[in-house]
Amino acid sequence: MTHLLEKYSHKILHQTWTTLFFPFYLVDELLKYLMNKNDRQQAVDYGLMKTFNLEQLVRPNIWALKPYSSARDEFVIEEDETHALTFLDANENPLGSVGNAPNNRYPDPYQRQLKQTLSKVKQVAEERIFLGNGSDEAVDLLFRVFCTPGQDKILITPPTYGMYQVSADINHVGVDKILLNEDFSLPAEKILVATQQEDYKMIFLCNPNNPTGNAIAPQEAFEKILTEYKGIVIIDEAYIDFAVFPSMVGLLDRYPNLVILQTFSKAWGLANLRLGMAFASPEIIGLLNKVKPPYNINGLTQELGLKALQHIAQKNAFVEEIHKQRAWLYAQLPQFDFVEKLYPSETNFILFKTNDPQQLYDYLVKHQVIVRNRSTQPLCAGCLRISVGTETENQRLIDLMKKFAV
Ligand SMILES: Cc1ncc(COP(=O)(O)O)c(C=O)c1O
Repeated sequence: MTHLLEKYSHKILHQTWTTLFFPFYLVDELLKYLMNKNDRQQAVDYGLMKTFNLEQLVRPNIWALKPYSSARDEFVIEEDETHALTFLDANENPLGSVGNAPNNRYPDPYQRQLKQTLSKVKQVAEERIFLGNGSDEAVDLLFRVFCTPGQDKILITPPTYGMYQVSADINHVGVDKILLNEDFSLPAEKILVATQQEDYKMIFLCNPNNPTGNAIAPQEAFEKILTEYKGIVIIDEAYIDFAVFPSMVGLLDRYPNLVILQTFSKAWGLANLRLGMAFASPEIIGLLNKVKPPYNINGLTQELGLKALQHIAQKNAFVEEIHKQRAWLYAQLPQFDFVEKLYPSETNFILFKTNDPQQLYDYLVKHQVIVRNRSTQPLCAGCLRISVGTETENQRLIDLMKKFAV
């Protein structure tokens, strides 16, 4: 008997395992099959993606990526240590810099000083901040983190900022579009229905929106999307400093799928620096840090960004002046019969509809005033977009439009 048991024990064990665990094994395999990227749609249909799962959203190669470790990653330099240390690690020029010294050392790859101050100004924890070479860099990196080329899709709501589509095209990512409503408000319900039917990795929402200038939805509508859709929701707040409503950075603690973009290019008047911000969960920020080029923010930009943050009052004064100039343009533009409609703006630009946008555009260009013709954008037929200029520039624009009218 013992002999027989010994002889067949592995078979008995196998038989027991199969009987007891085979159903679990089957379910497990089925789940794996459903969660396979190519079959994600079925997972959505079966309601398996109702909870946010960052790992499932991230491209597997990025999740597994061991990032490049730059020389300056390997230790933290205390501020009072910088002069005492001897840097022989990064093949820099120890003698100095051609031109204006001192630029011979690589900058802090994680911009710690700048983030420390920014954290206080924005009331967002340092580990929730990513800085990019413009917020355009953050947009591109989000594609690289979340979207597998030739496979994944995102959702945008035209008319909106053009770089979402361009970045998607560069990264070979599909783009589905749900137009804003006629009044440029957000069709939140339509978006939610679409996300139930298709598996979008990311949704880009711009608020206030470019090129329309308006606030596209109340906060509750964004929160509904953030709650019910479990992909990444990017809210681009490039123009938030000009808006009467507050930023949604306060929602970051509540929604792990939220990414907010802001920039130093608009109200701060620092477009030349190329400095953009992304605010998100520490996990998403970690992923952006993994894929970014090691020294994506140069030292001069870090220095000037830090300086700018000491002068918030000046930024606020700029915003106030832009508001004043914008109000003046709103008062002037209705005098022209060819201006058929003025759209409300919470930004530093105004969109208006005219009967012959190309003719007005060409006339202004001929007189060296460059505006943006947005008339080929969906829902924007006949529309030109003008940035609010200085008092002199705005006066010049209106004088030219008066001449155009006769
Ligand atoms: C909505 C929106 N987002 C982002 C940007 C780009 O910002 P940055 O200069 O930080 O790349 C712009 C620039 O016009 C914009 O309109």
